[in-house]
Amino acid sequence: MECESSIKAVRGSFLDITRTVPCPEEIEGHLRFIKDGLLLIRNGQVDWFGTWADGHHRIPANIRVRDYSGKMIVPGFVDTHIHYPQCEMVGAYGEQLLDWLNKHTFPAEKRYDDLEYAREMSAFFIKQLLRNGTTTALVFGTVHPESVEALFEAAHHINMRLIAGKVMMDRHAPDYLLDTAESSYTQSKALIERWHRNGRLLYAITPRFAPTSTPEQLAVAQRLRQEYPDTYLHTHLSENKEEIAWVKALYPERKSYLDVYHHYGLTGKNSVFAHCIHLEDAEWDCLHDTHSSIAFCPTSNLYLGSGLFNLRNAWRKRIKVGMGTDIGAGTTFNMLQTLNEAYKVMQLQNYRLSAYEAFYLATLGGADALGLADTIGNFNVGKEADFVVLEPTATPLQQLRYDNSTTLIDKLFVMMTLGDDRSIYRTYVDGRLVYERT
Ligand code: GUN
Ligand code: ZN
Repeated sequence: MECESSIKAVRGSFLDITRTVPCPEEIEGHLRFIKDGLLLIRNGQVDWFGTWADGHHRIPANIRVRDYSGKMIVPGFVDTHIHYPQCEMVGAYGEQLLDWLNKHTFPAEKRYDDLEYAREMSAFFIKQLLRNGTTTALVFGTVHPESVEALFEAAHHINMRLIAGKVMMDRHAPDYLLDTAESSYTQSKALIERWHRNGRLLYAITPRFAPTSTPEQLAVAQRLRQEYPDTYLHTHLSENKEEIAWVKALYPERKSYLDVYHHYGLTGKNSVFAHCIHLEDAEWDCLHDTHSSIAFCPTSNLYLGSGLFNLRNAWRKRIKVGMGTDIGAGTTFNMLQTLNEAYKVMQLQNYRLSAYEAFYLATLGGADALGLADTIGNFNVGKEADFVVLEPTATPLQQLRYDNSTTLIDKLFVMMTLGDDRSIYRTYVDGRLVYERT
């Protein structure tokens, strides 16, 4: 007999995008809005999805329907670039990238050699993700393997789909944060063996950025990638002009910043490059040709004064883009606020980011940037049941503005412009309720 507890029924208004698209103009054609919908979940996966009228007879007797009428249920948000050991120093005053790293970031990351501390902060970090509706993230640890061990333990506990890796960094940082080419290899390898594809967890080989790795260490990253071709590669690229000049000075034999990574075989499918603000034409082409992905981190790019990401170019070049909060250079865990800032970054470039495009980037587009579009990102049957129940009228101002919105796209736009963590009513991971707003 079927175990009924493995089945769940959720009712409400649902919104998702049914397939990945090559250009933003195609999103609307694949938008699926079901005003009175039903989601049936079995063993953490979508078992049936459609209208309440078509599906309610499928609900087994004795199953309680979770009724979220009046709310908007969307796929869980995907954060394609975030640093969990930087929660402590979000909002540090006054610096741009390189000084910010030295003054604020490296000292904060020092404490993660302590497994107990890393455990405490992992629990905090995952709670922050969930209370903001983020159900999948690509995460930087610190150089200490303990940091990643603790984070994976915490994510494993709730069977969250999370990708993370230990930072590889063997120069140009304080001694207390340095590994060596050799130790970064053995430590990363041990973590891959223990955690990659353990439940829903995945491993990302994580050289911090070209300036903090010797050529020997980048060669080691390449070796790991060859040995474990289905792992991820996660790093920073072309965020700040001083940073770019530094890379060119350190690697004069390479044609560009990206060419450093490309030379060591670190571009490719499931390589995710955060920022990509000041790319040269050949670098855009290389990202396209290698099927690499970009994490667009608007709050971070504004906060550090790094520059404006050219989303228009990324679409033109058919490069996959996801949204990243980039805590702690980014200033919020919240994807709605991140989309709000993305809209403004694009306004400054005469590009009108629509609510549909923004929601695509935060859900299925982000999943696609992580090579997970067949696994998460919408309510197609067989997908993993990670989703968020949004409250469109969480504040009096939102209520007023919502009442003055007539179309779905307008309502959605109001949510991304005025929304924040109060908009996250419930979060589900693996078909289970993991966050309830109080
Ligand atoms: N480049 C190298 N390290 C970092 C980091 O921790 N944050 C950001 N935003 N950029 C980086
Ligand atoms: Zn970052």
